[in-house]
Amino acid sequence: MLIHLLCLFSDPCLLLTPCFPGVRCTSGSDGSWQCGECPVGSHGNGTHCEDDNECDVKGVCVTACVNTDPGFYCLPCPPRYKGTQPFGLGLKEAQRTRQVCFLFFTSMNVLSWVCTPYNPCKDNTHACHKHADCFYLGLASEVLYKCVCAVGFAGDGFLCGEDADLDGWPNSGLTCKRNGTYHCQMDNCPSVPNSGQEDLDVDGQGDACDPDDDNDDIVDERDNCPLVYNPRQFDTDRDGVGDRCDNCPFDSNSLQTDTDGDGEGDACSVDMDGDGVPNDRDNCALVYNTEQRDTDLDGVGDQCDNCPLLHNPRQSDSDNDLVGDLCDDNEDIDEDGQQNSRDNCPYVANSNQADHDGDGKGDACDHDDDNDGVPDDRDNCRLVANPKQSDADGDGSGDACFDDFDNDNIPDALDPCPLNRDIKSTDFRKFQVVLLDPKGTAQSDPLWVIRSQGTELLQSANSDPGIALGYDKFNAVDFSVTFYVNTNRDDDYAGIVFAYQSSRRFYVVMWKQVSQAYWEKKPSKAFGTAGVSIKLVNSSTGPGEYLRNALWHTGNTRNQVRTLWHDPNKTGWKDYTAYRMHLIHRPKTGFIRVVVYEGREILSDSGAVYDHTLAGGRLGMFVFSQEHVLFSDLRYECRDSEDMRKGRQPAFGDV
Ligand SMILES: *[C@@H]1O[C@H](CO)[C@@H](O)[C@H](O)[C@H]1NC(C)=O
Ligand SMILES: *[C@@H]1O[C@H](CO)[C@@H](O)[C@H](O)[C@H]1NC(C)=O
Ligand SMILES: *[C@@H]1O[C@H](CO)[C@@H](O)[C@H](O)[C@H]1NC(C)=O
Ligand SMILES: *[C@@H]1O[C@H](CO)[C@@H](O)[C@H](O)[C@H]1NC(C)=O
Repeated sequence: MLIHLLCLFSDPCLLLTPCFPGVRCTSGSDGSWQCGECPVGSHGNGTHCEDDNECDVKGVCVTACVNTDPGFYCLPCPPRYKGTQPFGLGLKEAQRTRQVCFLFFTSMNVLSWVCTPYNPCKDNTHACHKHADCFYLGLASEVLYKCVCAVGFAGDGFLCGEDADLDGWPNSGLTCKRNGTYHCQMDNCPSVPNSGQEDLDVDGQGDACDPDDDNDDIVDERDNCPLVYNPRQFDTDRDGVGDRCDNCPFDSNSLQTDTDGDGEGDACSVDMDGDGVPNDRDNCALVYNTEQRDTDLDGVGDQCDNCPLLHNPRQSDSDNDLVGDLCDDNEDIDEDGQQNSRDNCPYVANSNQADHDGDGKGDACDHDDDNDGVPDDRDNCRLVANPKQSDADGDGSGDACFDDFDNDNIPDALDPCPLNRDIKSTDFRKFQVVLLDPKGTAQSDPLWVIRSQGTELLQSANSDPGIALGYDKFNAVDFSVTFYVNTNRDDDYAGIVFAYQSSRRFYVVMWKQVSQAYWEKKPSKAFGTAGVSIKLVNSSTGPGEYLRNALWHTGNTRNQVRTLWHDPNKTGWKDYTAYRMHLIHRPKTGFIRVVVYEGREILSDSGAVYDHTLAGGRLGMFVFSQEHVLFSDLRYECRDSEDMRKGRQPAFGDV
């Protein structure tokens, strides 16, 4: 016992406690000792250990990193963000740690946002799913990159599941971190595109693939109210729309137009635009204008007059550019689709005509876009007047435009056009119908139906060529559309239109299923080859049979249409198959590229095609002799921002 104690006190480890607290000490029989490794979170020789500074590891925290002895932790995510608040011990753990902060929002969140202080897309330290693309943004706020599921997948960007019909909804539900995340729920119709997921009878089967949406035992195709339960099918005015769903049950109006959206159709409304002036006294019956100003006294109010300063009561506009023939000279030096006399930058192409200070001089040629006295090249909020230039966090982006560059109340993260307050979302709810062969009797005119808050269009007639044209105007743009033909009848053309300036000048991407000669051989022979085409329309005649035949033809027709590219593989579309069509247009360089995906695979890719003729314009959907074409999950994004804002990485396809 005594010996034992003696031994104990002669052990240097116990006698001298030479090692740092918590470090193992081993003693030798000769009275020597040795200290083990320093505890996790510190470094040194064992006798002396020093706390590691985990905060020296790059990119651990988005917010501030606090080094404690031992360990570290991150401060919580900034206001309006949700996410993780990591903590830990040691450099190794710090290297494995990455704080993630989501911009928290509730609707339409396709994207996920993460903030880190460097470019995580490049060095591959992002948190995007393996089937997502990472886009670096560097918006001078916390939001630095976004994850977007690749074509063929849907989800929130952190999780992406297969999306067979390319409508933005995964085949099966995903367990995304945020509950109710828009794109994480299972597609209620996995094989037919339906980006709006409409399901009237809430039976879990989307209307798009439910043969009887309202469960009234009348199949949709024969139901005069496919979305309202009406087994008896009464239709007093015999317009094909049943009384139960007719917005004018006693006035025949098969198109159901309702300008002011008040539920009462125009056909039976005494004030179609809801401006308080009855139709028969309203000088713009279809445009809200309480003050009724009519400068040129032609009976057509300025708000809806296509030549507000010239007397033109008939309002004819033969080239469908919304400028009346009487004042339409089509002189357009910069070829941006706005004739010189109406162009807010006649010598600089700016199809979008953005003019944030409303001084009549477009941003593209205004040295002080917001009129705050600070020239654009030194202004920390180029589009928002902030003469004091206050910038509390010193990040170079002024407080007045923090996170919302154009001050349109859509955070940059969600704004398809962060540098243009006129465009807040992809929206085709209002569109102009352009008939490209209006007099021709070859076929009927197209019939367009809009769904899903303006992000889905259905064209149901076997028609003459026509366009459904949105009203937003673009310079550089990316435009994506899911293309689906919901019938096995016919084999003709459908596609998209871009840089539309008038019905004489636009680009069209058109896709034919099988090769075929046009049945009308006059005025010019036309042979359409299967496959995707990119065509420039620069027509000396405008809509009519010349343009019609030239559009059908794969090749060039003098003074009408030039084919810029045609798929050498001549791959046609298939019935009942979803394709994603992605267009990139950069007017400054004339760059055009169209990529068509079938599922995840690229089916057809034009590569770089250059044409400088049209410097931008409007976007639309195109059909020619093809019925039941569905254009789903429409999405556009302005791309003229890259050079105007520091830190932004060019997106897919940029040049
Ligand atoms: C351990 O490091 C400390 C501080 O650097 C030093 O003072 C001490 O002599 C070292 N001990 C041994 C055994 O190397
Ligand atoms: C998500 O919703 C489900 C069902 O509504 C619920 O049980 C679950 O706790 C929620 N998860 C989170 C992370 O909120
Ligand atoms: C477009 O048409 C106009 C008039 O017909 C012609 O002057 C011009 O050269 C054409 N441009 C191209 C690129 O073909
Ligand atoms: C044509 O098909 C081949 C083989 O599938 C493919 O590699 C090529 O990219 C296609 N060409 C175009 C222009 O899409």
